[in-house]
Amino acid sequence: MDIYRIKGGKKLNGEIPISGAKNAALPIIIASLLAPGKTKLKNIPDLQDIRTTIKIIEYLGAKTEFDSEKNTLTIDAAKLTNAEVPYDLVKTMRASVYVMGPLLGRCKEADVSLPGGCAIGARPVDIHLAGFEKLGASINLDHGYIKARTAGLKGNIFVMPKVSVGATANLIMGAVLAKGDTILENCAMEPDVVDLAEFLIKMGAKIDGVGTERIVIHGVKSLKPVEYSVMPDRIEAGTYLLAGAITRGNIKITNIVPRHIESLLAKLEEMGFGIKTGKNWASVSDGKKLTGALIETLPHPGFPTDLQAPMMALMTTVPGINVIIETIFENRFTHVAELVRMGANITIEGRSAIIQGVQTLSAAPVMMSDLRAGAALIVAALAAKGETEIRRIYHSDRGYEKLVQKLTAAGAVITREKGGNL
Ligand code: EPZ
Repeated sequence: MDIYRIKGGKKLNGEIPISGAKNAALPIIIASLLAPGKTKLKNIPDLQDIRTTIKIIEYLGAKTEFDSEKNTLTIDAAKLTNAEVPYDLVKTMRASVYVMGPLLGRCKEADVSLPGGCAIGARPVDIHLAGFEKLGASINLDHGYIKARTAGLKGNIFVMPKVSVGATANLIMGAVLAKGDTILENCAMEPDVVDLAEFLIKMGAKIDGVGTERIVIHGVKSLKPVEYSVMPDRIEAGTYLLAGAITRGNIKITNIVPRHIESLLAKLEEMGFGIKTGKNWASVSDGKKLTGALIETLPHPGFPTDLQAPMMALMTTVPGINVIIETIFENRFTHVAELVRMGANITIEGRSAIIQGVQTLSAAPVMMSDLRAGAALIVAALAAKGETEIRRIYHSDRGYEKLVQKLTAAGAVITREKGGNL
């Protein structure tokens, strides 16, 4: 398995262009199944999760062409030949459960292997299933599969018991071809959900309240294939800003939508970093006097849980007391033990982490336990004294396109090597 070697202590400087958003691209690729014909998607990042999603829709009968250099993906979903997604395709990526909405809408059935547990918590899919039942599907769990059937989905009112990005996206995809109106309450307002809804609207769906807690979908008979460009990845953007900040360098990220990362920019400014923004860019620079901060992860527009780990890496070097309260996932502190091995001073109390800033981190061999925990280790390594060896980097391949290339261009000393038995 490949490893990263990072020689820390170099200030990052320059511009980093941001790729298309993984968490918008995944449901959008799957939503293409709703339109018989050729959909053309642009700004699709070349990531492991994207390649898994392409395999899934091909398994269902779609024909695809992915130009990873140009980041374009053509999907021909004229004919779907299968309505089942097996365990081998689901096990590496929970987002495979997104096929339920489009398959129920177009084929009236969906058999999806139940996604397993995950390093960041139990992550059930009960809200997705309760929502589809409300829309007229019968759901059975059989031999590890979710088996959903319907004579045709029908609009209804569904109040989500908890804000869920995945359930909101899945139910919108199911409701667009349902008969009548569907009202979804307590919806996720993440930009990724908005991007999916805008894609569906371009395809001919009728959706009101996009980006609010209450989304109303007026079912239509059919959708047409379109061309669409996926929004920029706000989590990748945030990660590189945090990387710039920890090295006390000066990093400008481009091709972004600054309002998508407002909560991060406001926190960095509060901590004393210099922040500037323009129409499609943001930059971070060192501040004169840095101070610790308190962060609570929350659904959008609150501070995103996906930036909690890399933000914690930055906080390990910010003087004073920093606190992070993780309210979205119950087990998203697996990076803490690794950061402590690099000299960080962190104490966990339930869902809170108390981080006392230290002068310097020191390089150590460390291991990624999930995608964003991996991002935290990369951010920390960029500032640590010495050479950090990071293992299990397949986790970061799921979410960071051209990572070595982008960081190297900004002055980081990072190499990817074959090797490591773990
Ligand atoms: C999405 O996951 C993202 N994944 C995650 O990004 C992100 O961390 C998360 O939203 C929160 O922002 C994709 O978009 C592919 P949720 P999702 O449903 O949809 C509970 C990354 O690193 N819940 O909003 O699975 C759940 O356990 C990934 O890129 C239920 O209880 O998250 C959690 O506590 C990791 N029942 C909370 O809701 C359900 O049926 C929010 O989860 C669904 C969710």
